[in-house]
Amino acid sequence: MGLSKVPFGNDFIWGVSTAAYQIEGGYLHDGKGFSIWDDFVRKSGKIAHGANGDVACDFYHRYADDLQLMSDMNIRHHRFSISWSRIFPVGRGEVNQAGIDYYNRLIDHMLELGITPWITLYHWDLPSSLEIKGGWTNRDVLEWFGEFVSCCVRNFGDRVKHWMVLNEPMVFTGAGYFLGIHAPGRRGLSSFLSATHHAALSQALGARIIKSLQPDSIVGTTFSTSHIEPLSTKDRDVQAAKRADALLNRLFVEPLLGLGYPTEEIKTLRKIEKYMRAGDEQDLKFDMDFVGVQNYTREIVAHSYFIPYLRAKLVTAQDRQVPTTTMNWEVYPESLYHILKKYSTYENMPPLMVTENGASFPDEVTRNTVNDTERTAYLQEAITHMHRAKQEGVDVRGYFVWTFLDNFEWAEGYHPRFGLVHVDFESQRRIIKDSGQWFARFLADS
Ligand code: NOJ
Repeated sequence: MGLSKVPFGNDFIWGVSTAAYQIEGGYLHDGKGFSIWDDFVRKSGKIAHGANGDVACDFYHRYADDLQLMSDMNIRHHRFSISWSRIFPVGRGEVNQAGIDYYNRLIDHMLELGITPWITLYHWDLPSSLEIKGGWTNRDVLEWFGEFVSCCVRNFGDRVKHWMVLNEPMVFTGAGYFLGIHAPGRRGLSSFLSATHHAALSQALGARIIKSLQPDSIVGTTFSTSHIEPLSTKDRDVQAAKRADALLNRLFVEPLLGLGYPTEEIKTLRKIEKYMRAGDEQDLKFDMDFVGVQNYTREIVAHSYFIPYLRAKLVTAQDRQVPTTTMNWEVYPESLYHILKKYSTYENMPPLMVTENGASFPDEVTRNTVNDTERTAYLQEAITHMHRAKQEGVDVRGYFVWTFLDNFEWAEGYHPRFGLVHVDFESQRRIIKDSGQWFARFLADS
């Protein structure tokens, strides 16, 4: 007796998620411009083992075979992202027709195979020419992003109905503009706060543009989430956990819902007012068709004087001596249950979709197979926890595995493998892992 998708109902969406920079390669092909990730990977010491996404899974050239494989695995929904600098090599102005043509081919091929396209408009690869002008810290990004969104909807909207505006804004502003560990590698509070406010405005603006150009579209945006627990019941740990929760789980969703930024918990966030203009509070709101939650693990939080502004630290999984993935994240699929419950308690929360969930493990190929029992167990447990949340009344409508193919995992390079399909990056050979075989059977069940 195995886990079945039947109890979720026929309308429940099951799919896989990918992102342009992580799989496409073809970084300069057919007129594509540089993105901040093309720049960042060229800075020494930023990416593990000096890896880059120049070739990645070469999906740019191999998409037909890969989509065939996806279809063979009974996958009927694919969430992927559009590389902004393929469409606008310098971020705005002149359109690169070859970029449009590529995504047209991709979309058409998916539709021929019966795979529904779900587009993420921004999965972290800002055109470099825009970063030179300040990137997300420059309020003009609203205009640049609006132009890009309109162009995508006008070109692909006749065939694509499902859209997501941003991928995990907390991560690209936090890691990219505060900690400097992701592109563009900027640091400091003012770049973080300005990027945050402009990204929060953009998620609503992008959705407004899509809806105005294509009223029957289904629009959402996605958020990184982690279930958070205090290290102890001591008040200072409990308060620290509340601050971490405000930063990691609430910062972007609350302004969207019309609740403003969580400044009560994190006083420093009040400085964001410096970047706000009249009417912004209203403009931050948008009534999405769905909200995408992306979840991998939980965090245990303790008070700390050493972490500026937040005075809270994440107690690592190693320090807690719990099993971890190759990302050094605790193996904790139950986190998804808690996050779905938490998000569903907001009064005006639209239906939820799990737009990413998965785990990286050190897979090894043995005689053309990859026996990744840990990944299968993780996915099965997470799906079981999602079902529990659904039975308790959470309106969750879909689930996308991160990810289809092993790929370029940002600053971590190619070491973490999250795919249902193994990729040998030397030969570009694909092998469906046991978890992929299991998912294919799970999807075939009716
Ligand atoms: C979230 C990001 O959207 C995706 O790009 C990344 O690969 C996964 N998490 C795993 O870290």
